[in-house]
Parts: sequence; structure tokens; C-alpha cells
Amino acid sequence: MNPSVAITAEPGCEHQARRLAQRLGLEYMDHHDPAPPFLLQFAKGRLQLQQTGDKAPGPVYVEFAQGKAAHRRRQGEGRKTPLARAAGRKGGFLPDVIDGTAGLGQDAFVLATLGCRVRLVERSPIIHALLEDGLRRAAASPQTGEIVSRMSLVLADTAEYLRSLPAPARPDTIYLDPMYPHRGGKALSKKEMQALQKLLGEDRSGPGLLHVARQTAGKRVVVKRPRKAPFLGGQRADFQICAPNTRFDVYLTAPPADSA
Ligand SMILES: C[S@@+](CC[C@H](N)C(=O)[O-])C[C@H]1O[C@@H](n2cnc3c(N)ncnc32)[C@H](O)[C@@H]1O
Repeated sequence: MNPSVAITAEPGCEHQARRLAQRLGLEYMDHHDPAPPFLLQFAKGRLQLQQTGDKAPGPVYVEFAQGKAAHRRRQGEGRKTPLARAAGRKGGFLPDVIDGTAGLGQDAFVLATLGCRVRLVERSPIIHALLEDGLRRAAASPQTGEIVSRMSLVLADTAEYLRSLPAPARPDTIYLDPMYPHRGGKALSKKEMQALQKLLGEDRSGPGLLHVARQTAGKRVVVKRPRKAPFLGGQRADFQICAPNTRFDVYLTAPPADSA
């Protein structure tokens, strides 16, 4: 049992919460004292991760239909955005993508908005549960239902998942956005990134993941980095596409006929 996270619920959602607690091996709490560092809450019709303590920031949850998501939908419609070019969307070609570091699904949602089929792989069962909830709500919304029908979710370690894929299931593009300790980018807001870092701890698996991804992707691997960060694991990319705070390092795995 993870002692740093417990599950709570608003009245009416207790049954759902108890079921999730059992599935994730977490404690279900019907009282708040003493609270662990994180509460996974069924509240306001969604699943959200709330830090506890006096100065705790607001909750983190997956949202594709409302708020900042509308901006990301417009981004996703822009076929020449840095992310679209990096992922290999060109002319009528829509790459089949695995997002190997799904997180809160924000980049995957932009790729799905572009028209790509995206498999989101996430190894944290807690983040996976947040994604599952966000996708369920987005599927019910007229603005996002069609977009999220192209997104599927896998709970797994991406390196293991990629190694297990038979050749026909290998994607054109593998997208990686490993946690970066001092990133200045805005892909996830400060609050969301800090919460994820606190919950998940330090992650050193990025270089190994890149190695396996380069052996698996049909056309390319894309690694998102803060603009001035070194290459992941010192592995030099074939080319880079820069956005104001972010850089996409592109590793070609097939002849560069479709390079951006
Ligand atoms: C920086 S976040 C990704 C944010 C994401 N790009 C977004 O737009 O919301 C990194 C995520 O990758 C996940 N992750 C890291 N290494 C992984 C691995 N080897 N397999 C699966 N998920 C992994 C972490 O659990 C974390 O949720």
C-alpha cells in the first residue's frame, strides 16, 4: 500500500472510491485527519489529486474539454506547429503515435486533435486513473468525443510495453517527455508539474527509454526537452525543432524521406 496517497469521496461517490481504492491498493479514508501528503478525491464529478497541508496548491486533474484545453485544441488544429512537425505530420500523412510518457495527456491530446491515433502509456497507476477519468469525461463531450476516440490508454512501463510489441503494432512515432528537474517550459503548469514530481519522485529512466524507443519506432522518436537542456542521455538527435520554451529532438529511425 502507498502510504503517501489515500482516496476520499464526496457523498454519493463512496462506492466508486472504494472500488478504485481496492484496485490501486490504496487506503479509503472517510475522515481527513491525519491526512497523507496526497488525497485522490472523487469531487465535482471528476477524479482529482489534492496535496494536503496549509499551503497546498489546488487540485490536479485531467481536463480535455474545458479551460486551457480549448487552447490546446486550437494548437492541435495547427498542422505546422512545432509538435506537429516534430511528430512527423506532413501533407496527408498522419503518424500513428505512442506517447510513452503520458502524464496528464496534454501533448497526446494535441496529437489526437491533429488527427493522429495515439496510444498513451503511463506507468503510475495513480496518473493512469486520472487519465482514465479525464478520457471518460471527454468522451461524453460533443467538443472532444471524436478527438478522444483516437486516444487509447495503457498502464505499463513503456520500455517493457515497447519490447512486447509485435512488428505490426509498432508505431510510426514514439513521443517521450520525461520529467526534467529544472524545466522552464509550460507544457504542464508549474502546479501540475510540481505535484507530479512530488508524487512520482526523481526519474532516471529517460535515457534507457530513448534507447528502446529508437529500436521500436517505425519512423522517428521525438523527445521533448526544455529549450536549453542537453540531449537526453547525451544521445545526439538528427534534428531539432524549437518552440519558445521547449525543444523537440527528433531521432530518425528510417530513411529521412519524411523529415520535417
Ligand atoms: C513530464 S510527465 C509527461 C507530461 C505529458 N507530456 C503531458 O503532456 O501531460 C512524465 C510522465 O511519464 C511517466 N513515465 C516516466 N517514465 C515512464 C515509463 N518508463 N513508462 C511509462 N510512463 C513513464 C511518468 O509517470 C509521468 O507521468
